[in-house]
Amino acid sequence: MNLKQLIKKMTLEQKLAQLSQFTADCLSVTASGAISGPAGELALTKEQVSATGSTLNYIGADMMKGIQDEHMQNDPNKIPLLFMQDVIHGYRTIYPIPLAIGASFDDQLAEDCCRMAAKESALGGVHVVFSPMVDLARDPRWGRCMETTGEDPYLNSQMARAMVRGYQGKMKGKYDVAACVKHFACYGGAEAGRDYNTVDMSMRNLQDYYLPAYKAAIDEDVEMVMTSFNLLNGVPSSGNKWLMNDTLRKKWGFDGIVISDYNAIREMNMHGYCATEKDCAEKSIKATCDIEMRSATYLQQVPNLIIEGKIKMKDIDKAVLRVLKLKEKMGLFENPYLVADGEKEEKVCLCKEHREIARKAAEKSAVLLKNNGVLPFDTSAKKVAVIGPFADKGMIGFWACLGKAEEAVSVAQGVKNLLPDATVTCQEGCSSKLNETDISGVEKAVELAKESDIVILTVGEEAYHSGEGNSRAEIKLSIAQQTLIKQVVKANPKTAVVLFNGRPLVLNGIIDDMPALVDAWQPGTEGGNAIANLLFGKVNFSAKLPMTFPKTEGQIPIYYNSFRTGRPKGDDSSDAGYCSRYQDVGNLPLFPFGYGLSYSTFQISKPTLSTNVITKKDKLVAEVTVKNTSNVDGEVVLQAYIGDDYASLVRPVKELKDYKKVMLKAGEEKTVKFKITEEMLRFWSANDKFESEYGSFTLWISDCSDTGESVKVEYVKKR
Ligand code: GLC
Repeated sequence: MNLKQLIKKMTLEQKLAQLSQFTADCLSVTASGAISGPAGELALTKEQVSATGSTLNYIGADMMKGIQDEHMQNDPNKIPLLFMQDVIHGYRTIYPIPLAIGASFDDQLAEDCCRMAAKESALGGVHVVFSPMVDLARDPRWGRCMETTGEDPYLNSQMARAMVRGYQGKMKGKYDVAACVKHFACYGGAEAGRDYNTVDMSMRNLQDYYLPAYKAAIDEDVEMVMTSFNLLNGVPSSGNKWLMNDTLRKKWGFDGIVISDYNAIREMNMHGYCATEKDCAEKSIKATCDIEMRSATYLQQVPNLIIEGKIKMKDIDKAVLRVLKLKEKMGLFENPYLVADGEKEEKVCLCKEHREIARKAAEKSAVLLKNNGVLPFDTSAKKVAVIGPFADKGMIGFWACLGKAEEAVSVAQGVKNLLPDATVTCQEGCSSKLNETDISGVEKAVELAKESDIVILTVGEEAYHSGEGNSRAEIKLSIAQQTLIKQVVKANPKTAVVLFNGRPLVLNGIIDDMPALVDAWQPGTEGGNAIANLLFGKVNFSAKLPMTFPKTEGQIPIYYNSFRTGRPKGDDSSDAGYCSRYQDVGNLPLFPFGYGLSYSTFQISKPTLSTNVITKKDKLVAEVTVKNTSNVDGEVVLQAYIGDDYASLVRPVKELKDYKKVMLKAGEEKTVKFKITEEMLRFWSANDKFESEYGSFTLWISDCSDTGESVKVEYVKKR
């Protein structure tokens, strides 16, 4: 197909339609030609609807084929629609939210989950998934933490790469779908953790922390990029030429499609960046945002901008070419349906193999935060109480695509599956409402706890308490949930608390009452089976926190890779004045980045070095001996951190540079090696580029960001 010839044939309106994306409910052109529903609100004409280039938010292969059929009949150029969908952590078989996948520190697991999601999506008629979301998140008040893989640029970069590989393969396989990295850029830096709020930060902060994961996705050949709703340093991302044209395209070499977020181009009026919709269209086109999602400023304003000479036709043609190239690459011109097949979709979605992947992901991403020895529970338990507002409901998260909570395994069901001879009884105890104070149900829950062998106590937040538009200024458990915990544990100390959450929560004042605490996040379709296997020791814990848990909201933002300041406060025990501290809650978090317990215990030696001097071309090898000192096989996440002791711009106390998840049988010992290179020492310098500086560095290899013996490394010009 000669795409340039095709573009030459197209009218301006048809070109602009290729650069417009409307939800599926906009696309039906009634027999009378009357445009109804949202298309009517957008004042779209029948021709504009007929020539639209892509759509989103439809349900399944059959609907997709119906829409594509109608479109191919109406489109004068017979250009197939691109179908896009929010497949964030699964299409129909839902695996844990991305924040949980980050906690797995397991790139292969992330890739396998996305591969599974890609197959289900492709059969469902999806061509592009609006994923991975790689926004760095340091503020747990932000609802969309659940969609990120956490606070660390390196972990987020590795996860971004793995997810793009999982979705796209080599973009040649029949189940390969195009990925769309989002939200470009720095959406997670919203002031005060309030969704859509202003992002204002230094170039250093941008380059060292917030941009690397997008760049990682670009380097992994992601097909698309989605702009973010927020301002970045005074300019909305969807009209931000420095972000899209200068950085993404010119500097990083990305020549794929950029799509705006939902209505984000038109919202530049609301931001106060544009005076009119025509202004919105002009600034977005000039910034090289190709597709306008769910608003019509391109269709309605660009013709005049061309007449006025403000927009050049060649820029429109370039954008259209990028869209048509993806359609050609995916084979849509040959076959507008690709592998969409309603029957196969039904057969493959939720199949045993996919449920297995989802269950394994939930097992490898739940974090054991506390255990006084009450876990693992004994499988000989006969009377099991499952208490709390999440005792018997599937927890599949905010962006669950076509997933259904009723198709997910609850904790109670998971226990029944594991212990068919046990009596499993549920009591809600209290509601999941935010700020719930009604404790009238606690008494019955306490009675049940008293007469049970063991208690699983499910607390936390609903999926809709996090996710888009769902920031929270207070992230504590409700009074009712805290009361439930205190009274149930008092009634039966053989209690394990299971937390369901889309972000770190504040557990101060209640954590001491918990004999054991498991963070299950939003574990997805197989959550209940995974949680049961973990609580009864069929599977061991191996996950680590991808985001810091603050003691209180007042500490936020709090993250491990911060600066030491000129007056660091030693630890929380000292009450030294005149240092960087809070008088009332201390500086340390409740749980730090990289923290997570296991049924195993591990001993990690101080790193030994092949040499303690590196140069630009000579790397060094650091190795540790790690021993499983328990009688339980287990995996440990070894984390390599480097701190630049002094530099022309102050550097964080430490930064994660590598991690390896290592399986060790009971009593087994292994030597694990890490390559330390000059590239790991680079940072965004005052010379406005990434570079390393000679000097001394500190290296830790540990199983958490706040532990481990360190060694010194010298970076010199030559040995
Ligand atoms: C939403 C989200 C974005 C999503 C898009 C399409 O507002 O910000 O992540 O992909 O709209 O649903």
